Amino acid sequence: MSSNTRKPNRRSITAQALGWIDGTTRALVPPIHTSTSYERSPDGSWPGAEYTRDDNPTYLQAEALLAELEGAEEALLFASGMAAATAVIDALGPASRVIAPQKMYWSLRHWLQERAESGAIRLELVDNGDSQALEAALASEPTRLVWIETPANPTLDVTDIRETVDLAHAAGAVVVADSTLATPVHTRPLDLGVDIVMHSATKQLNGHGDVLAGALATAADSDLWRAIRGQRSGRGGVLGPFEAWLLLRGMRTLFLRVEASSANAQRVAEALEARSEVRAVYYPGLRSHPGHEVARSQMTGGFGSMVSFCVGGDAETALRIASSMKLFKQATSLGHTESLVEHRASVEGPSSPVPGDLLRLSVGIEDASDLIDDLYQAIAAA
Ligand SMILES: Cc1ncc(COP(=O)(O)O)c(C=O)c1O
Repeated sequence: MSSNTRKPNRRSITAQALGWIDGTTRALVPPIHTSTSYERSPDGSWPGAEYTRDDNPTYLQAEALLAELEGAEEALLFASGMAAATAVIDALGPASRVIAPQKMYWSLRHWLQERAESGAIRLELVDNGDSQALEAALASEPTRLVWIETPANPTLDVTDIRETVDLAHAAGAVVVADSTLATPVHTRPLDLGVDIVMHSATKQLNGHGDVLAGALATAADSDLWRAIRGQRSGRGGVLGPFEAWLLLRGMRTLFLRVEASSANAQRVAEALEARSEVRAVYYPGLRSHPGHEVARSQMTGGFGSMVSFCVGGDAETALRIASSMKLFKQATSLGHTESLVEHRASVEGPSSPVPGDLLRLSVGIEDASDLIDDLYQAIAAA
């Protein structure tokens, strides 16, 4: 006999966006609260919200859903993924030491390097997933924060989350994981000991390429978390109510979209690996990927929608292949319903660690055979 007390699966909770019903109208879909101000009680207190730079009823539900998905104490939405990530760093305090991976979302690496040059932080970059290098970096000086991104954009390097957490915590550092590529569908970093998980919600969380948003979710309240909240409120890097509403709508189909695009990405990666013209394919779902076993141990239900591959020529060849694609759109970003292709070296510039012949794919939810045909015809055309 089934028990009525069993908590619904995350898939059910997400499809119903927490099962929220409007107290006044009984609406199943929440309204968009555009008001920036809220009336005080006669005694001066705020019975509801206060001011929309601190809280807005439209984004509270999306935050609560993300917290539920990540198993977090609390989640905060930001105006973008970068606004979320930089709020963490700026909340650390002056000249704090940060360890980050060599290969990570390039805008954030670039921003961290600029902050380090200005003396705001002390930064050390270590090879992704190299636990000995991390241990040595942690031993060399007191460190406040270890940043990880797994899988990493765009090289798909995998980092062992639990091992990193053990090393960092033993050295007194907190761990923040950019889990944008993994999504809460495939990985729950907080369950593996991470302190704060970060997302560019612009990607799979929203999933339709029509919202810029970021998010943080914390395992526990802490001084750092309160400082992060202060960063958001002080700088005003909040999400607007329209975007928060769209994000919540997108999140309702998160499981369907992520599972479909990850399954497509697996097929695309295998199809690329079968082509002799292709020099290398980077996808954690491939047995040939050096991080496959670690990925299998910390990702469930798939390995994400990003696949990168090296075409085995120069940058011009890669660009020619990208522009010969018809179904894949040549555009930046990831996690949309439609598939995208981008030549990352020309986006990231000369300091990029990304090979010149690498193309990054964001695989969408189209028919996998159509996508593979498109890739094959583009490779043949070049
Ligand atoms: C892994 C990762 N982290 C962070 C970001 C930054 O997010 P946003 O563009 O929402 O500021 C991106 C953007 O592409 C990303 O791919």
